[in-house]
This record gives sequence, C-alpha cells and structure tokens, in this order.
Amino acid sequence: MPGKVGDEYYMTKGHLHAWRPAAEVYIGLQGQGFMLLEDERTGKSTALPLSADRVVYVPGHTAHRTINTGNEALVYWGILSSQAGHDYGAKDRYDFRKVIVEIDGEPVVLDRDQYVDRLKADKR
Ligand SMILES: [Fe+2]
Repeated sequence: MPGKVGDEYYMTKGHLHAWRPAAEVYIGLQGQGFMLLEDERTGKSTALPLSADRVVYVPGHTAHRTINTGNEALVYWGILSSQAGHDYGAKDRYDFRKVIVEIDGEPVVLDRDQYVDRLKADKR
C-alpha cells in the first residue's frame, strides 16, 4: 500500500530464500515502486524500478524487498520454485544498504549511511 514513515516509503520486510540458490521473477501488475536487491555474498545493492509491465529478475543468494513509491497499491506477481522457502530472519541481523526516500517530491535512492547523515543534519 502507498504511504511513508517520515520521508521513507512503505516497504516490505524483505527476505532471502531459505534455499539460497533459488531465483525469483517479479512481474509488475499495478502501481509504481522499486525492488531493492542485495547479494548476501558481495553486499552489492541495486534498486530496480517495479511497475506494471516491468519484470525484475532476482538471482539466487539475493535479499529482496519491494518499496511502493506511488499513490496506489503496488501489485506484482512473484514466480519462484516451490522449494525456495523464505528466510525473513536473515535480514534481522542486518538491514538493506540502500533506502528509498522522498526528496523534493520524488523517490531517491540513497545509501543508508547517507540517509542517516541526512537525518542527523536535520536534527541540528
Ligand atoms: Fe522471494
């Protein structure tokens, strides 16, 4: 669903697959948003647009989260192996390295460290 906490858009918790090599395909059906993909082996973090008629490939060993940056429900269809399973706990041990926040009315992808620095600067 659409919305924000402060300037950070609503998002899913995000997960890895319990069977780490399992990939997944997301097909956007409605709305505007992004997927954050983060390879747990390298830490490489990527934000890809997700909207109607877009397809996002999630490789194995990759944590993934969706972020709704629009003003309607973000609807998508995830296709994955029935063997994949979900591991939501892994992301409790650390958070995604990127955040997607609204700046001047537009979604902007920031490194989490940059975002934290912005918040600290705003409090001064
Ligand atoms: Fe998944």
